[in-house]
Amino acid sequence: MFMNRKTSRRHFVKQLGLAGAALALPAASYSRVLGANEKLRVASVGTGGKGWSDLLGVAASPAVEVVALCNIDSSADHLGRAAERYPSALTYADYRKMLDKSDDIDGVIVSTPDFMHAPISLSAMALGKHIFCQKPLTHTVKEARQMQLAAQKQKLVTQMCNQIQSHSAYRTAVALVHAGQIGKVLEVHSWQGGQPSWPRNIDRPAGSDPVPTTVAWDLWQGVAPRRPYKTGIYHPFNWRGWQDYGTGQLGDFGCHILDPVFKSLELTAPLELVAEAPPLKPETWTDKATVSYVFPGTERTAGDTIRVTWYDAAGVQPPAEALSSLPKSAELPKAGSILIGEKGSLIIPHVAMPKLYLKGEETEAKYDTVAGVDHYVQWADACRGEDKTTSTFDYSVPLTETVLLGTVAIRFPGQTLKWDAAKMTIPGFSQAEPFLSKEYPKGWM
Ligand SMILES: NC(=O)c1ccc[n+]([C@@H]2O[C@H](COP(=O)([O-])OP(=O)(O)OC[C@H]3O[C@@H](n4cnc5c(N)ncnc54)[C@H](O)[C@@H]3O)[C@@H](O)[C@H]2O)c1
Repeated sequence: MFMNRKTSRRHFVKQLGLAGAALALPAASYSRVLGANEKLRVASVGTGGKGWSDLLGVAASPAVEVVALCNIDSSADHLGRAAERYPSALTYADYRKMLDKSDDIDGVIVSTPDFMHAPISLSAMALGKHIFCQKPLTHTVKEARQMQLAAQKQKLVTQMCNQIQSHSAYRTAVALVHAGQIGKVLEVHSWQGGQPSWPRNIDRPAGSDPVPTTVAWDLWQGVAPRRPYKTGIYHPFNWRGWQDYGTGQLGDFGCHILDPVFKSLELTAPLELVAEAPPLKPETWTDKATVSYVFPGTERTAGDTIRVTWYDAAGVQPPAEALSSLPKSAELPKAGSILIGEKGSLIIPHVAMPKLYLKGEETEAKYDTVAGVDHYVQWADACRGEDKTTSTFDYSVPLTETVLLGTVAIRFPGQTLKWDAAKMTIPGFSQAEPFLSKEYPKGWM
């Protein structure tokens, strides 16, 4: 059956209650095959904040033409400076309107707050657009799985923007583990000891403030429940601390800090996890949490399973007993991971070159470094068939699901959650399952 663009997008988005099932995608929505001399025509949604550097990063490729810019805020820091930089690009406040006229768009950069990544990306994928999407890929676990299914079904080029994966530091760390420098890995500890500036552990402020004339507050709220506008509380940046919009400190940093752990150990879905955290306020995330995951062992790990423990709190570090394999001189970064192996330990700071300690040695071992690559241009090149991305949705969805499962566990401190990744269920504790997905408001999409 023929479907027009608007109908096909809506039809696709309606599949959103069916996580885990194959998505029924409309025909005639596959991506265009680009000729050798053709430019990749790119749209950017969320052109302020990190979106500004995402846009500049992708457009650094001479083979990219920026054809559309979308932002719910028309002020200089958000839509304004992007429109000035790319004056021939069409501008929009509403990404749905942009996609309804998207015949000349090949790929979409999605740099909005976390809770809008999935509706925007899924809508664009339904129309056959390649996707470069910020981390964490989605707000809920089931949205993440749908992103993977959609990308597979549509055969799209995808990249999550956990760009440090492409830096020399993380690439070198992965290569050291793969070269067997620390032997098979016994356990991993990852932490973020930095203090976020965004709101945590607070209640919703009373009242409302006038919405700036440049801001379309209803469009910003998108698929989230409606609430009054408050200056400086949600838009921009501070949405991170609110459960309706962001994913807390684990969601903000997990897809970066756990990335070299995932890549080097070739982890997939956890078998179970348990969190320690103070009780959540009704609407915000906590200011500290520990999440302990058990994954199936891999070729890179010593046992049948491997434990990976995440810690976040101001100044937090892994417990002393976890560090007993390190020489006394070893200094830990504020954020990063330590992989403890049978032949040595590897500290992977976030973001700096790794430190390798071979068993019994008091000083750092020397190693060869691996050069970095350009995470942004790699996607543009891959869309044109000239490279491959490394944070494809086949890779970044299991990583995102792991991170987001941690945010579910934080709601149930002390409760071990088993995870059935194939069925997307939490056997024996179904009370947690409603937090794996969310309803989009009726009629909004
Ligand atoms: N990879 C990294 O290192 C990194 C760093 C910072 C942020 N991020 C990610 O980037 C994303 C944005 O974070 P931020 O700090 O820039 O947030 P922000 O709130 O500062 O900026 C978001 C931008 O998107 C616009 N926007 C919001 N909703 C929109 C919508 N529905 N349609 C179009 N435009 C919309 C806003 O006006 C703003 O310009 C988040 O997912 C965040 O996790 C990643």
